[in-house]
Amino acid sequence: MTEFKTVRGMRDFLPQEAQTLRTVEARTRKVAELYGYGEIITPVVESYELLSAKAGDEVRSRMFAFKDLGDRDVALRPEFTASVARLVATSMRNEPRPFRLFSVGTIYRYDEPQKGRYREFWQSNFELLGSNRPEADAEILMLTNGLLEKIGLKNHAFKIGHVGVLRGIFSQENVDESIQSTVMQLMDKKQYDDALETVQKARVSERCLKVLRRLVELKGDKILDVTDKIEECIKDYEMAVAATRNLREILKLARQGGCNAAMTVEAGFERGLEYYTGMIFEVYVPDLNIALGGGGRYDRLIELFGGAPTPAVGVAHGLDRILLAMKEQKSGLKGEETKKVVIIPIGDELRGEALRISQKLRESNLSVEVEVMGRKMAKALEDADRRNFDYAVIIGEKELKEGAVVLRNLKSREQNTLKIEELKKRIK
Ligand code: HAM
Repeated sequence: MTEFKTVRGMRDFLPQEAQTLRTVEARTRKVAELYGYGEIITPVVESYELLSAKAGDEVRSRMFAFKDLGDRDVALRPEFTASVARLVATSMRNEPRPFRLFSVGTIYRYDEPQKGRYREFWQSNFELLGSNRPEADAEILMLTNGLLEKIGLKNHAFKIGHVGVLRGIFSQENVDESIQSTVMQLMDKKQYDDALETVQKARVSERCLKVLRRLVELKGDKILDVTDKIEECIKDYEMAVAATRNLREILKLARQGGCNAAMTVEAGFERGLEYYTGMIFEVYVPDLNIALGGGGRYDRLIELFGGAPTPAVGVAHGLDRILLAMKEQKSGLKGEETKKVVIIPIGDELRGEALRISQKLRESNLSVEVEVMGRKMAKALEDADRRNFDYAVIIGEKELKEGAVVLRNLKSREQNTLKIEELKKRIK
């Protein structure tokens, strides 16, 4: 018989890992609630055409795409944004703006598996649709910052740029859209020389090349200082100037909103997805050199899907990578702790009583397991110790006649006989 393993890039989550993942998920839900983002649940399978429209070559080439039995071209979602845009362009088209929408779930990309890179992974996704104002962009930065703080991560830092800087220059230089996209993809992979070569081939002016060479070097963590330098560098390109000012405004607002994390502005920063039109960002911790989250502004996607013009900005956080970062930083998450109790009946005729008491205790919000292996008390206690239980309730015939049981504190090893009604009070 073959020994089955998970498919390459796919993972199982055993109870403890699953619990940590769900606790992180719960934090993302809490952030959604605190910022007023309503949850939407969209399908894992969507039409290939929708998902590939503006995904960019990198994501597009890594989609789990296939034909369903009805001969439809479909794929597993490689992100949430396309599904959200579809919804806003269709079922939600007549609803009043803005929309604040939240999703959390699994995402699929045929990436090369390695630390922090899987083929099935989890994202929490936030989209704010209907506003083109900088306070909307600032909100997305703030909630990302708030989430990482809530999770207890330290020293996270934002890398921020603005698609409009380069796009502004290129459109003034009449560079073809498709060449622009190629250049952006190369920049995303930090292949600046290749990017510049591609621009050169597009017959842009000498001045443009000079500006670009300088621009890709411009970065720093003093927001005002860098944005001033960028503006100076691109001053002959009107749209690029507007983009830089927009970026500065967003960053100032985010700071005023209490987003205190380090921020590095990089003029040559690009992201792989093609739909971005404005501010773009990623967030990192020093302990891990892969992004924990990324997002930006995309003002034309909803229109592209046939909806009314709807400016939008959003972010997705990679929950698997957040879990890795927590591990690296050894930051445990404190959830609401539920005390764990095991109930051990001494003898088969007490099984019913064990089940009855277990149910009573669960009603007072305790996590209760009944000994179902028929083990002797010593063995059952040993097992409860190994599994880090807090209490054992031992049901013996003699005590039960008096309406009592034995409660053993597994941490302090204290043991008392008490009435069944007193159990809840004593355990809490
Ligand atoms: P993204 O940068 O492609 O953006 O993905 C967001 C996050 O998902 C990444 O920063 C990373 O943490 C996580 N991630 C991506 N690929 C993998 C992988 N193979 N394994 C584990 N984690 C991964 C988006 O998906 C956009 N939809 C974000 C957005 C929303 N932009 C606007 N609205």
